[in-house]
Amino acid sequence: MAVPYNKRTHKNGELRASHVGQEVILVGWAHNYRDLGGMAFIDIRDYTGITQVKFNPQTDPIAHKLAGTVRREDCIAVRGNVILRGDNVNPKLATGEIEVEGHEIDVLSKSDTPPFAVEDDTDASEDARLKNRVIDLRRPKMQEIIRLRHRLAKAARDTFAAQDFVEIETPFLGKSTPEGARDYLVPSRVYPGKFFALPQSPQLYKQLFMMAGFDRYCQIVRCFRDEDLRADRQPEFTQVDLEMAFVQVDDVLEAVEAAVATMFREGIGLEVPRPFPRMSYHEAMDRFGIDRPDLRFGLELLDITEVAGKTDFSIFKEALDKGGLVKCIVAPGGGDLTRKVTDGLADEVKGIGGGGLPVTKVVQGDNGVELSTGVAKFLQPVCDELLAATGAKVGDAIFFMPGTYADVCKYLHFVRSRLGEILNLIPDDEWNLLWVVDFPMFEWSEEDKRFYSLHHPFTAPRDEDIPMLDTDPGKVIAKAYDLTLNGIEMAGGSIRIHSREIQSKVFKLLGISDEEAHEKFQFLMDALRYGAPPHGGIAMGFDRWVMMMAKCDSLRDVIAFPKTQRAVCPLTNAPGEVAEDQLVELGIDKRPEVKAKEAKGAS
Ligand code: AMO
Repeated sequence: MAVPYNKRTHKNGELRASHVGQEVILVGWAHNYRDLGGMAFIDIRDYTGITQVKFNPQTDPIAHKLAGTVRREDCIAVRGNVILRGDNVNPKLATGEIEVEGHEIDVLSKSDTPPFAVEDDTDASEDARLKNRVIDLRRPKMQEIIRLRHRLAKAARDTFAAQDFVEIETPFLGKSTPEGARDYLVPSRVYPGKFFALPQSPQLYKQLFMMAGFDRYCQIVRCFRDEDLRADRQPEFTQVDLEMAFVQVDDVLEAVEAAVATMFREGIGLEVPRPFPRMSYHEAMDRFGIDRPDLRFGLELLDITEVAGKTDFSIFKEALDKGGLVKCIVAPGGGDLTRKVTDGLADEVKGIGGGGLPVTKVVQGDNGVELSTGVAKFLQPVCDELLAATGAKVGDAIFFMPGTYADVCKYLHFVRSRLGEILNLIPDDEWNLLWVVDFPMFEWSEEDKRFYSLHHPFTAPRDEDIPMLDTDPGKVIAKAYDLTLNGIEMAGGSIRIHSREIQSKVFKLLGISDEEAHEKFQFLMDALRYGAPPHGGIAMGFDRWVMMMAKCDSLRDVIAFPKTQRAVCPLTNAPGEVAEDQLVELGIDKRPEVKAKEAKGAS
């Protein structure tokens, strides 16, 4: 008689000494098979753990024989009795005190030899793991991560529901929503030559919900962005997206903090202190060179422009003559860094476009504290002033960066992060949550000679800055905020413009013509005519929260079926070719250069 697999009594991580004597039915995958002294042993595994089942040829010859045919990853069901292991307790297994004396076994389906073992410790390449994702997802770590993801989604959804947020879905087939990336386009068969754009975010729809009187909206929603990929970016990713009417900045931040606290509690059992600290964009840039500073370690950027101006160091002079500045980072104990390390760091800075990284070390000389090595000779004359300005001490190294404000920020942020790693200053068990607030509304592009929005074009300026939209737009501060965790941007949002006049002024400042605004955003402008309430919101990068709490380095580890860095799915081989008649139906023809490339590939 077959083992009734639908009548499982326990999961494979559940059995303990208290179950001894009970008859159990277990189902799962054969993790391991061994034959010891004539006995057959199978470790049966499911997402909860492993139980050892043993088959005795004397008492259960039929089951024993069948057990002998079982191989790794066969899907099986067994029936047996729980017994103590006696002297053979396995302290590494939660079920290690007991084993099951198997009386019956069913092989529900056989497995080919798996491409790699279902173990946390795997040397399988990422490509192999993504191609064989079913096997990969069976690994306990992946099971935990995907289940953590579920708990976090539930925690967010429950907290927002308890705060009267309504979950409403928004269309995937729509028009472009500008979030700064390229759109994924979907051709329309009914209107050949026309395209839908998959949403980069539900930004405009959620604003319309506020105008429609829903008061509070949230959605756990997929977003699509065709942009350069990095470990913390995926072309399709998930946001916990929300919008609230009749609110100011503080109200949105409080709502998010409540959800984040619940996510930490339900996800990894951690209580995070609230309210989260806040820092202005300008302070973050001045002190850390980045708008998402990691405050788990120091190494702040120090402005030494005044001292630098008193030296004859040509590269300082050059920067200052061009209206730039000089900043530095003091690396405590950096005096021990070898030339190889400091030169290596300078090369890395060059690698990202910088000019180099002058360095000197603070040492105890015969006549007192002095500078030694590197650019010491240029700076020795201002040594005392430099030490007073920076607080550098004997044994420290000082890394300098002359240049424009933007360049100094960019390169010193990089140097700060690298020094944090090199000097082992970044604790990996701290959770540094930080709101960055008061972003500038616009960013001037010298190259394009125009303003871009720092957040998106629907972000409201501070009330007191509204007059500056006409006089000095570059100085306007927006009601925008980002939530960062250990230097990673985890959420971003803003209070929105709810006045038609201001929205249209902002479009103009961004170089969006009336025609373009009409073509792209008329529905928003129309909705703004009918009594739009003040409103604001935010979107949390959900995959990033899972990544951080799971302590993974890449979003690919926390998404069940992710895309690679090259934006393809190795599992399904998407994107793929489509049949010629499908293209004809859509009114699409491939460009000659694409056809030529295909022909070359085929030959
Ligand atoms: P923003 O573009 O800042 O804001 O996105 C919100 C958050 O989403 C995450 N994120 C990503 N995660 C993975 N892969 C990506 N490619 C990716 N891009 C962004 C980040 C980011 O903080 N509509 C606005 C929100 C609002 O104003 O309410 C928006 O989408 O964690």
